[in-house]
Amino acid sequence: MYFINWERNITTNLFERNKVVVKKTKSFTNLRHFLLIFCFTLISIFSGNPACPPEIGQRIVENESFEFRKKLKLIGINTPKLYSISYEEIIEEYIKGGNLYFYFHKEKAKDLAFQAGRITGILHKNGFVFIDNKCQNFVVNKDKEVIRIDLGFIQKSQSLFAQSIDVGSFLASILDLKPQIYTNAAKEFLAGYREITHNQIPYLSIILRNILALGFVYSHSNMIKNMINRRTP
Ligand SMILES: Nc1ncnc2c1ncn2[C@@H]1O[C@H](COP(=O)(O)OP(=O)(O)OP(=O)(O)O)[C@@H](O)[C@H]1O
Ligand SMILES: [Mg+2]
Repeated sequence: MYFINWERNITTNLFERNKVVVKKTKSFTNLRHFLLIFCFTLISIFSGNPACPPEIGQRIVENESFEFRKKLKLIGINTPKLYSISYEEIIEEYIKGGNLYFYFHKEKAKDLAFQAGRITGILHKNGFVFIDNKCQNFVVNKDKEVIRIDLGFIQKSQSLFAQSIDVGSFLASILDLKPQIYTNAAKEFLAGYREITHNQIPYLSIILRNILALGFVYSHSNMIKNMINRRTP
């Protein structure tokens, strides 16, 4: 695997005979973080819910640390095994199944969407939010368990705005799937979320989904069909 994106170079390698993913920070990282914080703050102001901008810098390293992954495990959120971490580089277990987005195309992924919803609900119930909760930040292992990666932006917050960003960003990241597939995946994600939060969906989720989708999706025609379909969540 060789994956280039705005934030990091991501490659696979061998470490102590295990297949691992090596994530190297690039010079774009600070700019990308700044843009994310800027968008978060701007949307919070325009939606009438001004929220503190997410913390970055050292917080990102702490969120990916051995200790924090242990805490997540205790509350029921699985993450890849960490081998080493510094500001420049993270080495973690390679999860063979790849990210959740591709499952929606190739097989019935109802249960996987449900698990992602539960994971999001569990984090919220424990007083934290992901901020960057797109479905590409979930990977699937060989036992079809959903594992959360990319922990850097997790923040301590119980604000409805930040919780809505999590639900909205997940839905936005799948909004370009074919309408039938989107409807099933979104329903299951929300059912998993509701199971943990006793039926509470943060009320700004759908508005934020529509705003965030503009920056997330590949297929704008499916996105528009899904946005205007009254039967989809
Ligand atoms: N441990 C892992 N096992 C398998 N695949 C992984 C793993 N970590 C990352 N990936 C793959 O690399 C992609 C990007 O990883 P990650 O989200 O950690 O990087 P990023 O730099 O934060 O990306 P982005 O800015 O797009 O969120 C994931 O969507 C997934 O496909
Ligand atoms: Mg990511």
